[in-house]
Amino acid sequence: MADNSKRRMIAALIIALVSLHSMSALATGINAGDTRPEKPKKILVLGGTGQLGRAIIGELRNTPARITIFSRVGSDRTGFEPSAPTSPAVEWVTGDLLNSADIDRTFTAANFDIVINAVRVEDGDNHFYEKIMTSLTRNAKRTGTRLLIHHGAVGAGGNVEKFRNLGWERVPGIFDRLKDQGVGEELLRSSGVPYVIIRNARLYPSTHPSTGKAVLTEDDGVLTPMTRADLARLTAECIDNPKCINKTFHVSDPSLPWPPTK
Ligand SMILES: NC(=O)c1ccc[n+]([C@@H]2O[C@H](COP(=O)([O-])OP(=O)(O)OC[C@H]3O[C@@H](n4cnc5c(N)ncnc54)[C@H](OP(=O)(O)O)[C@@H]3O)[C@@H](O)[C@H]2O)c1
Repeated sequence: MADNSKRRMIAALIIALVSLHSMSALATGINAGDTRPEKPKKILVLGGTGQLGRAIIGELRNTPARITIFSRVGSDRTGFEPSAPTSPAVEWVTGDLLNSADIDRTFTAANFDIVINAVRVEDGDNHFYEKIMTSLTRNAKRTGTRLLIHHGAVGAGGNVEKFRNLGWERVPGIFDRLKDQGVGEELLRSSGVPYVIIRNARLYPSTHPSTGKAVLTEDDGVLTPMTRADLARLTAECIDNPKCINKTFHVSDPSLPWPPTK
Protein backbone atom coordinates (compact mmCIF):
# COMPACT_ATOMS: atom_id res chain seq x y z
CA MET A 1 0.00 0.00 0.00
CA ALA A 2 1.29 3.46 -0.84
CA ASP A 3 2.49 5.56 2.10
CA ASN A 4 -0.22 8.19 1.49
CA SER A 5 -3.06 5.65 1.61
CA LYS A 6 -1.64 4.18 4.83
CA ARG A 7 -1.54 7.64 6.42
CA ARG A 8 -5.16 8.32 5.33
CA MET A 9 -6.33 5.00 6.84
CA ILE A 10 -4.58 5.68 10.16
CA ALA A 11 -6.06 9.22 10.28
CA ALA A 12 -9.57 7.82 9.58
CA LEU A 13 -9.10 5.24 12.33
CA ILE A 14 -8.06 7.92 14.86
CA ILE A 15 -11.07 10.11 13.95
CA ALA A 16 -13.40 7.13 14.35
CA LEU A 17 -11.95 6.27 17.75
CA VAL A 18 -12.20 9.89 18.98
CA SER A 19 -15.85 10.10 17.78
CA LEU A 20 -16.70 6.82 19.51
CA HIS A 21 -15.19 8.11 22.77
CA SER A 22 -17.09 11.40 22.53
CA MET A 23 -20.38 9.59 21.83
CA SER A 24 -19.95 7.28 24.81
CA ALA A 25 -18.94 10.26 27.00
CA LEU A 26 -22.13 12.10 26.03
CA ALA A 27 -24.21 8.96 26.58
CA THR A 28 -22.85 8.57 30.10
CA GLY A 29 -23.27 12.27 30.81
CA ILE A 30 -19.58 12.90 31.47
CA ASN A 31 -19.45 16.04 29.34
CA ALA A 32 -22.87 17.24 30.41
CA GLY A 33 -21.93 17.11 34.11
CA ASP A 34 -19.61 14.54 35.58
CA THR A 35 -21.58 12.12 37.72
CA ARG A 36 -18.53 10.36 39.13
CA PRO A 37 -18.21 10.77 42.91
CA GLU A 38 -16.13 13.82 43.82
CA LYS A 39 -12.56 13.12 44.92
CA PRO A 40 -12.24 13.50 48.72
CA LYS A 41 -11.09 17.01 49.56
CA LYS A 42 -7.67 17.43 51.09
CA ILE A 43 -8.04 19.69 54.12
CA LEU A 44 -5.17 21.17 56.11
CA VAL A 45 -6.14 22.19 59.65
CA LEU A 46 -3.78 24.62 61.37
CA GLY A 47 -4.32 24.42 65.11
CA GLY A 48 -6.01 21.01 64.70
CA THR A 49 -4.74 19.96 68.12
CA GLY A 50 -6.44 22.94 69.79
CA GLN A 51 -9.95 23.02 71.18
CA LEU A 52 -11.64 24.67 68.20
CA GLY A 53 -9.50 22.67 65.76
CA ARG A 54 -10.56 19.41 67.39
CA ALA A 55 -14.23 20.40 67.21
CA ILE A 56 -13.84 21.21 63.50
CA ILE A 57 -12.13 17.88 62.83
CA GLY A 58 -14.97 16.19 64.73
CA GLU A 59 -17.43 17.81 62.28
CA LEU A 60 -15.40 16.61 59.29
CA ARG A 61 -14.87 13.09 60.61
CA ASN A 62 -17.92 11.65 58.87
CA THR A 63 -17.14 13.23 55.51
CA PRO A 64 -14.80 11.73 52.95
CA ALA A 65 -12.31 14.58 53.52
CA ARG A 66 -8.65 13.69 53.96
CA ILE A 67 -7.42 15.69 56.93
CA THR A 68 -3.88 16.81 57.67
CA ILE A 69 -3.07 18.51 60.96
CA PHE A 70 -0.19 20.98 61.21
CA SER A 71 1.17 21.21 64.72
CA ARG A 72 4.36 21.86 66.62
CA VAL A 73 6.89 19.47 68.09
CA GLY A 74 5.56 18.34 71.45
CA SER A 75 1.96 19.34 70.79
CA ASP A 76 -0.71 17.29 72.55
CA ARG A 77 -1.92 14.62 70.13
CA THR A 78 -3.99 12.78 72.73
CA GLY A 79 -7.20 11.46 71.21
CA PHE A 80 -5.68 11.07 67.76
CA GLU A 81 -3.92 7.76 68.48
CA PRO A 82 -5.21 5.12 66.03
CA SER A 83 -6.25 3.06 69.07
CA ALA A 84 -8.43 5.88 70.51
CA PRO A 85 -12.13 4.92 70.16
CA THR A 86 -13.28 7.97 68.19
CA SER A 87 -9.94 8.80 66.60
CA PRO A 88 -10.34 10.37 63.16
CA ALA A 89 -7.92 9.21 60.48
CA VAL A 90 -5.53 12.12 60.08
CA GLU A 91 -2.11 12.77 58.64
CA TRP A 92 0.40 14.98 60.43
CA VAL A 93 2.83 17.68 59.50
CA THR A 94 5.16 18.88 62.24
CA GLY A 95 6.32 22.47 62.12
CA ASP A 96 5.95 25.97 63.50
CA LEU A 97 3.81 28.49 61.63
CA LEU A 98 6.29 31.17 62.58
CA ASN A 99 8.89 29.37 60.50
CA SER A 100 8.01 30.14 56.88
CA ALA A 101 10.20 27.25 55.66
CA ASP A 102 7.87 24.85 57.53
CA ILE A 103 4.86 26.32 55.71
CA ASP A 104 6.68 26.12 52.34
CA ARG A 105 7.58 22.47 53.00
CA THR A 106 3.99 21.60 53.96
CA PHE A 107 2.51 22.99 50.76
CA THR A 108 5.26 21.54 48.60
CA ALA A 109 4.60 18.04 49.95
CA ALA A 110 0.87 18.15 49.15
CA ASN A 111 -1.78 20.29 47.48
CA PHE A 112 -4.64 21.19 49.81
CA ASP A 113 -8.12 22.03 48.53
CA ILE A 114 -9.07 23.70 51.79
CA VAL A 115 -6.98 25.27 54.55
CA ILE A 116 -8.61 25.99 57.91
CA ASN A 117 -6.80 28.23 60.37
CA ALA A 118 -7.94 27.54 63.94
CA VAL A 119 -4.72 28.64 65.60
CA ARG A 120 -4.74 30.67 68.77
CA VAL A 121 -1.82 33.02 69.20
CA GLU A 122 0.13 32.96 72.37
CA ASP A 123 0.54 36.31 74.07
CA GLY A 124 3.65 38.25 73.21
CA ASP A 125 3.89 38.26 69.43
CA ASN A 126 2.02 41.25 68.05
CA HIS A 127 3.06 40.41 64.48
CA PHE A 128 1.96 36.76 64.47
CA TYR A 129 -0.75 37.08 61.81
CA GLU A 130 1.34 39.42 59.71
CA LYS A 131 4.07 36.77 59.60
CA ILE A 132 2.00 33.64 59.09
CA MET A 133 -0.54 35.09 56.64
CA THR A 134 2.23 36.22 54.28
CA SER A 135 3.61 32.67 53.96
CA LEU A 136 0.22 30.97 54.07
CA THR A 137 -1.34 33.02 51.29
CA ARG A 138 1.79 32.82 49.10
CA ASN A 139 1.75 29.03 49.36
CA ALA A 140 -2.03 28.69 49.05
CA LYS A 141 -1.89 30.75 45.87
CA ARG A 142 1.01 28.87 44.28
CA THR A 143 -0.59 25.47 44.95
CA GLY A 144 -4.18 26.35 43.99
CA THR A 145 -5.89 26.13 47.38
CA ARG A 146 -9.61 26.63 46.70
CA LEU A 147 -10.56 28.11 50.07
CA LEU A 148 -8.80 29.41 53.16
CA ILE A 149 -11.07 29.64 56.20
CA HIS A 150 -9.53 31.91 58.79
CA HIS A 151 -10.71 32.13 62.40
CA GLY A 152 -9.94 35.64 63.54
CA ALA A 153 -11.25 37.93 66.23
CA VAL A 154 -14.06 40.44 66.64
CA GLY A 155 -12.39 43.85 66.84
CA ALA A 156 -9.76 43.04 64.19
CA GLY A 157 -8.27 46.14 62.53
CA GLY A 158 -10.78 48.96 62.06
CA ASN A 159 -13.58 46.82 63.51
CA VAL A 160 -12.30 47.76 66.98
CA GLU A 161 -14.02 51.15 66.60
CA LYS A 162 -17.42 49.44 66.88
CA PHE A 163 -16.59 48.16 70.35
CA ARG A 164 -14.87 51.13 72.00
CA ASN A 165 -17.34 51.25 74.90
CA LEU A 166 -16.66 47.73 76.16
CA GLY A 167 -13.69 48.58 78.35
CA TRP A 168 -11.19 46.59 76.30
CA GLU A 169 -8.52 49.13 77.26
CA ARG A 170 -8.39 47.31 80.61
CA VAL A 171 -6.99 44.19 78.84
CA PRO A 172 -3.22 44.66 78.49
CA GLY A 173 -1.94 44.51 74.89
CA ILE A 174 -5.32 43.84 73.32
CA PHE A 175 -5.22 46.73 70.84
CA ASP A 176 -1.83 45.63 69.46
CA ARG A 177 -3.17 42.09 69.02
CA LEU A 178 -6.32 43.31 67.30
CA LYS A 179 -4.23 45.51 65.02
CA ASP A 180 -2.22 42.42 64.04
CA GLN A 181 -5.46 40.50 63.45
CA GLY A 182 -6.49 43.29 61.09
CA VAL A 183 -3.20 43.12 59.18
CA GLY A 184 -3.65 39.35 58.82
CA GLU A 185 -7.18 39.80 57.47
CA GLU A 186 -6.03 42.41 54.93
CA LEU A 187 -3.18 40.17 53.72
CA LEU A 188 -5.72 37.40 53.16
CA ARG A 189 -8.27 39.63 51.41
CA SER A 190 -5.71 41.08 49.03
CA SER A 191 -4.02 37.74 48.28
CA GLY A 192 -6.45 36.54 45.62
CA VAL A 193 -6.96 33.27 47.52
CA PRO A 194 -10.70 32.61 48.02
CA TYR A 195 -11.36 33.06 51.72
CA VAL A 196 -13.85 33.07 54.56
CA ILE A 197 -13.05 35.06 57.68
CA ILE A 198 -15.00 34.11 60.80
CA ARG A 199 -14.41 36.54 63.63
CA ASN A 200 -14.71 34.85 66.99
CA ALA A 201 -15.46 36.46 70.28
CA ARG A 202 -15.48 34.83 73.66
CA LEU A 203 -15.61 31.05 73.24
CA TYR A 204 -17.47 28.95 75.80
CA PRO A 205 -15.54 25.98 77.23
CA SER A 206 -15.23 22.98 74.91
CA THR A 207 -17.49 20.98 77.22
CA HIS A 208 -20.38 23.36 76.48
CA PRO A 209 -22.78 21.69 74.04
CA SER A 210 -23.89 23.29 70.80
CA THR A 211 -26.84 25.63 71.25
CA GLY A 212 -27.83 25.09 67.64
CA LYS A 213 -28.76 28.80 67.53
CA ALA A 214 -25.55 30.35 66.20
CA VAL A 215 -25.56 31.83 62.70
CA LEU A 216 -23.04 33.71 60.59
CA THR A 217 -23.77 37.36 59.94
CA GLU A 218 -22.11 40.07 57.85
CA ASP A 219 -23.20 42.63 60.46
CA ASP A 220 -19.80 43.56 61.91
CA GLY A 221 -21.36 45.25 64.92
CA VAL A 222 -22.57 41.93 66.33
CA LEU A 223 -20.94 40.61 69.49
CA THR A 224 -22.12 37.48 71.24
CA PRO A 225 -20.23 34.62 72.86
CA MET A 226 -20.35 31.28 71.09
CA THR A 227 -19.64 27.61 71.64
CA ARG A 228 -16.81 25.87 69.83
CA ALA A 229 -19.29 23.18 68.76
CA ASP A 230 -21.41 25.75 66.91
CA LEU A 231 -18.36 27.46 65.47
CA ALA A 232 -17.13 24.10 64.16
CA ARG A 233 -20.51 23.41 62.54
CA LEU A 234 -20.56 26.85 60.89
CA THR A 235 -17.00 26.31 59.63
CA ALA A 236 -17.87 22.96 58.06
CA GLU A 237 -21.02 24.42 56.49
CA CYS A 238 -18.95 27.05 54.67
CA ILE A 239 -16.73 24.50 52.92
CA ASP A 240 -19.05 23.90 49.97
CA ASN A 241 -21.16 27.03 50.24
CA PRO A 242 -20.53 29.68 47.56
CA LYS A 243 -22.41 32.20 49.72
CA CYS A 244 -19.50 32.17 52.20
CA ILE A 245 -16.77 32.96 49.66
CA ASN A 246 -14.79 36.17 50.23
CA LYS A 247 -16.98 37.21 53.16
CA THR A 248 -16.09 38.36 56.65
CA PHE A 249 -18.51 37.08 59.25
CA HIS A 250 -19.31 37.61 62.88
CA VAL A 251 -21.20 34.91 64.77
CA SER A 252 -24.56 35.69 66.30
CA ASP A 253 -25.94 33.39 68.96
CA PRO A 254 -29.04 35.06 70.41
CA SER A 255 -29.20 32.41 73.15
CA LEU A 256 -25.84 33.53 74.59
CA PRO A 257 -25.94 37.17 75.67
CA TRP A 258 -22.97 39.49 76.21
CA PRO A 259 -21.26 39.65 78.70
CA PRO A 260 -20.64 35.89 78.73
CA THR A 261 -21.75 33.91 81.75
CA LYS A 262 -19.06 31.19 81.34
N1 LIG B 1 -10.47 31.30 73.56
C1 LIG B 1 -11.23 32.38 73.30
O1 LIG B 1 -12.04 32.80 74.11
C2 LIG B 1 -11.08 33.06 71.96
C3 LIG B 1 -11.54 34.34 71.79
C4 LIG B 1 -11.46 34.93 70.54
C5 LIG B 1 -10.95 34.23 69.48
N2 LIG B 1 -10.49 32.98 69.66
C6 LIG B 1 -10.01 32.30 68.48
O2 LIG B 1 -10.48 30.96 68.44
C7 LIG B 1 -9.56 30.14 67.75
C8 LIG B 1 -9.15 28.91 68.54
O3 LIG B 1 -9.01 29.14 69.90
P1 LIG B 1 -8.86 27.92 70.93
O4 LIG B 1 -8.94 28.54 72.30
O5 LIG B 1 -9.80 26.81 70.60
O6 LIG B 1 -7.36 27.42 70.64
P2 LIG B 1 -6.40 26.55 71.56
O7 LIG B 1 -7.13 25.42 72.20
O8 LIG B 1 -5.62 27.45 72.48
O9 LIG B 1 -5.39 25.92 70.48
C9 LIG B 1 -4.38 26.68 69.93
C10 LIG B 1 -3.83 25.95 68.72
O10 LIG B 1 -2.95 26.84 68.03
C11 LIG B 1 -1.79 26.10 67.67
N3 LIG B 1 -0.65 27.00 67.54
C12 LIG B 1 -0.37 28.13 68.27
N4 LIG B 1 0.78 28.69 67.86
C13 LIG B 1 1.23 27.93 66.82
C14 LIG B 1 2.37 28.00 65.98
N5 LIG B 1 3.30 28.96 66.12
N6 LIG B 1 2.53 27.05 65.03
C15 LIG B 1 1.62 26.06 64.89
N7 LIG B 1 0.51 25.93 65.65
C16 LIG B 1 0.33 26.85 66.62
C17 LIG B 1 -1.61 25.09 68.78
O11 LIG B 1 -0.85 24.02 68.28
P3 LIG B 1 0.14 23.09 69.15
O12 LIG B 1 -0.58 21.81 69.36
O13 LIG B 1 1.33 22.92 68.31
O14 LIG B 1 0.40 23.82 70.46
C18 LIG B 1 -3.06 24.67 69.06
O15 LIG B 1 -3.47 23.66 68.18
C19 LIG B 1 -8.44 31.06 67.40
O16 LIG B 1 -8.71 31.55 66.10
C20 LIG B 1 -8.53 32.16 68.41
O17 LIG B 1 -7.93 33.35 67.98
C21 LIG B 1 -10.54 32.37 70.88
